[in-house]
Amino acid sequence: MRSVLTESPTGRVILVFVVYLAIGVLVFVSPGRTKSEPEPSHSAIRGSIVWRRENCLSCHAIYGLGGHSGPDIVNIVSLYGDAYVRHVVTNGMIAMPAFELPEHEVDDLAAYLQHLDSTGVYPIRKKAPPVFGEIR
Ligand code: HEC
Repeated sequence: MRSVLTESPTGRVILVFVVYLAIGVLVFVSPGRTKSEPEPSHSAIRGSIVWRRENCLSCHAIYGLGGHSGPDIVNIVSLYGDAYVRHVVTNGMIAMPAFELPEHEVDDLAAYLQHLDSTGVYPIRKKAPPVFGEIR
């Protein structure tokens, strides 16, 4: 039996479109998609605004993109922990300036950095570079 959908040119266009839509819906609801894109919390979203406002990216890179006077920040929470991040942001450290932020903004920044950490691993990171001999 021949169908109108496969016979007429218009029918074929409609068929191709329906298949295209079905594939789109399947890709959209597939579990892999939600796994690879963790949703940021409201606090993390507010933290990303603080991050931009304070211009952290001028000194810190995310996945290698951004400033390089400070270390890449992607996996900072899993490397040193949440308390460490809060401490460095509020007290500063050598060339890292101290930021006088209200506590809720420090919470938001920490949540943002925690979220960044959950998005993947930025591979090139060593705890401390080896020092050979004296620097003159
Ligand atoms: C003027 C440049 C500059 C800005 C702006 C800056 N940082 Fe830093 N930051 C640094 C430097 C340099 C270091 C490394 C300090 C050291 O090793 O003594 C650092 C270190 C850090 C560390 C610890 C990293 C580690 O590996 O120990 C964190 C966390 C951090 N910064 C977060 C932030 C956040 C969040 C902001 C924005 C609110 C920010 N920084 C803005 C320069 C900066």
